[in-house]
Amino acid sequence: MKTFTNILPLRNELKDARFSAAREGKSLRIALVPTMGYLHEGHASLLRKARAENDLVVLSIFVNPIQFGPNEDFERYPRDPEKDLALAEREGVDFVFMPSVEEMYPQPTRTHIKVEGLTDVLCGASRPGHFDGVTTVVGKLLHIVQPDRAYFGQKDAQQVAVIAQMVLDLNFDVEMIPCPIVREADGLALSSRNVYLSAEERQAALVLSRNLLAAQAKANTTESRVTAGELLTELRDAIGAEPLAVIDYVEIADFPGLSPLAADERLDAAGRRSDVLIAVAVKFGSTRLIDNVILTKKVND
Ligand code: PAJ
Repeated sequence: MKTFTNILPLRNELKDARFSAAREGKSLRIALVPTMGYLHEGHASLLRKARAENDLVVLSIFVNPIQFGPNEDFERYPRDPEKDLALAEREGVDFVFMPSVEEMYPQPTRTHIKVEGLTDVLCGASRPGHFDGVTTVVGKLLHIVQPDRAYFGQKDAQQVAVIAQMVLDLNFDVEMIPCPIVREADGLALSSRNVYLSAEERQAALVLSRNLLAAQAKANTTESRVTAGELLTELRDAIGAEPLAVIDYVEIADFPGLSPLAADERLDAAGRRSDVLIAVAVKFGSTRLIDNVILTKKVND
């Protein structure tokens, strides 16, 4: 495994690798797994899939300042490069790219990528500018690595929708591979930010997965004939009943379009007209957690 902190040597190594493969008449499938580090089993699942499907796996670790708002946790975002490198090694990563902020943004960036519409709703509504920071850094990483495939977790479902739109609109020559959410045994979606939670908050946070998974199960029974309005009220009430939970949003939208569904839209397996995202963002103390389930047009229980 090779580690790079600078863009040029990484580009040169990638060029060499492509060239050597071409000389032998082979093509080289390159995967990119972009992360902000403090790696856990959710990140590992992306790396494993990338390893299985490609010849060369590039992991990027970069806590991207421009996707954090002024009052967000950029400074205190958890970091543990040594542990990350050990996990990367275990998962068979070939190249790790861990640049400094100066390497990625040597002068104030004047060019940003903004995906319109999809970024005004859900997390975009409570975190203005966040997705512009995400698309800008992912766009840069895609240009630097030029992978054949890039792997993203459905944990950040809106991020998947926004980046897929960017790839389409700007003709990035990359295949986006969305990967399922990895959860703890008790249901909590893995997140680098879970370390912020006190024991009490962590226990309270189970209200999210418990109710999202119950909503999914209910919608997937054909006979429920449940509507978006009914499910939304049930979810808001159930999460709101947890004393430590402060709701940022609980929403039901079509996926990947992200438009809210009308209250009378049927969500049951036989009635729904598109894939549907049920997404929540809820604060426990100072920690904001997100979680979601997707109801596919085809039943997904
Ligand atoms: P980060 O939060 O580190 O997540 C990196 C990738 O891991 C994302 O695609 C995310 O969806 C995925 N991931 C995180 N937790 C997961 C879980 N429990 N199950 C499955 N996948 C999970 O998302 C970012 O970083 C950044 O916004 C980034 C795309 C790197 C741009 O800076």
